[in-house]
Amino acid sequence: MNKEQDAHANLLIRPFGEDDYHAVISLWEQTGIPCKPQGRDSKEKILKELSNPGTLFLVAEKDGDIIGTVMATHDGRKGWINRLSVVPRRQHQGIATRLLKEAEDHLYRCGMEIITCLIEDDNPGSMEFFRKKEYIKHTDIIYFSKRKYPDV
Ligand SMILES: CC(C)(COP(=O)(O)OP(=O)(O)OC[C@H]1O[C@@H](n2cnc3c(N)ncnc32)[C@H](O)[C@@H]1OP(=O)(O)O)[C@@H](O)C(=O)NCCC(=O)NCCS
Repeated sequence: MNKEQDAHANLLIRPFGEDDYHAVISLWEQTGIPCKPQGRDSKEKILKELSNPGTLFLVAEKDGDIIGTVMATHDGRKGWINRLSVVPRRQHQGIATRLLKEAEDHLYRCGMEIITCLIEDDNPGSMEFFRKKEYIKHTDIIYFSKRKYPDV
């Protein structure tokens, strides 16, 4: 068995459950993606988000550990890939590739014909990952947001 096959042995990709919450927050903190446990990443907010039928939140589990996540959402016009992350010791083993494929399949089933993601400009590794997956980088769009409170 080669390294990639070994990484995928016993790999379970399954829907997020309430009991996964703390492991998922810890994973996001380890992978350095912006995480707002007092805001939109509170357990309450995440569970509310999951009640939206367009939302699919998946975790990758191996030997009882949560090692990856992805959340696919859509607003009826575009699909969004959020929170794609893989624990550092399991990166470069094709796990994000599998998570992304499941998220994209969900969005296509929902009728989305464009799938998007936002990447911070100091995250070249993630940009390269999405470029490899045939996503186009738009340099002519600047992200604006309006926030009810700073930690939202
Ligand atoms: C981006 C991320 C999810 C990729 O996860 P992964 O499981 O390592 O990705 P894969 O193994 O499926 O990568 C597939 C290919 O993408 C490219 N790639 C992945 N990570 C890369 C990196 N850091 N630098 C350059 N290319 C990368 C490679 O071509 C890779 O194939 P290879 O390993 O055979 O060269 C992971 O690095 C991560 O969790 N990063 C921190 C969180 C983050 O930034 N998430 C994205 C938010 S938008």
